[in-house]
Amino acid sequence: MPCDLILALDVPTREAAAPILRQLRGQLRWVKIGLQMFTAYGPDYVREVAGLGFNIFLDLKLHDIPNTVAKAVESLGPLPIQMLTLHTAGGGEMMRAAKAAQQKTNPNLLLLGVTVLTSMDSAGLNEIGVTAQSADQVARLGKLAADSGLRGLVCSPLEVRLLRAKLPAEVQLVTPGIRLASEAGSDDQKRVMTPADAARAGSTYIVVGRPILQAADPAAAARMILAELASSKAEGLKG
Ligand code: C5P
Repeated sequence: MPCDLILALDVPTREAAAPILRQLRGQLRWVKIGLQMFTAYGPDYVREVAGLGFNIFLDLKLHDIPNTVAKAVESLGPLPIQMLTLHTAGGGEMMRAAKAAQQKTNPNLLLLGVTVLTSMDSAGLNEIGVTAQSADQVARLGKLAADSGLRGLVCSPLEVRLLRAKLPAEVQLVTPGIRLASEAGSDDQKRVMTPADAARAGSTYIVVGRPILQAADPAAAARMILAELASSKAEGLKG
């Protein structure tokens, strides 16, 4: 399956986002609206960006008791969104309740289960009492999510091969934690890979924020990543 780019629109204002979206309209398909922009502008902003022709990944990482998460999914379902995240750590009952609410309100919406945040490594997990290695914890949560009816997961690109081996092929794998080969630091991301490597490993989508947003020319950086994905796809077809 070819891998596509999702731009994480982690900027402070709609004015900051506007030129990037204008320049990438027609080239980039997916935009991720996360806590920063949703908290500032709410559902109207989701409708505004969808109105520009982008597919929307709403990254709210829901995590609460099953009834509360189900009600939130019911409220969000009518929005023009294609993907919505929740934390798999909320448990099987929470995910099943979310899935039932999604099927009722927006049958085409892909619910994505966040496994272990890509900013966490095994030491970070240990700090909160999870003694498993991060890869084992991701495998465990991924299996629980698939068994609970979810057909998409968010994980590090480093765990894609592991999950591909354990989960049904239809499960879509969305991977943040992407850094360009030229980048020195990785900010707060601990489990990272380049776009082409993530695509080759089997990511269905890569999510990229700061490597695009902090570039001197964000639209050019996004186009470069799209080209890198297209050439890794061509390579895959040859090989
Ligand atoms: O700037 P950067 O490319 O690190 O952005 C990654 C995006 O992916 C952020 O919006 C972050 O919230 C999101 N994300 C993540 N790890 C997860 C799930 C989502 O980094 N497990």
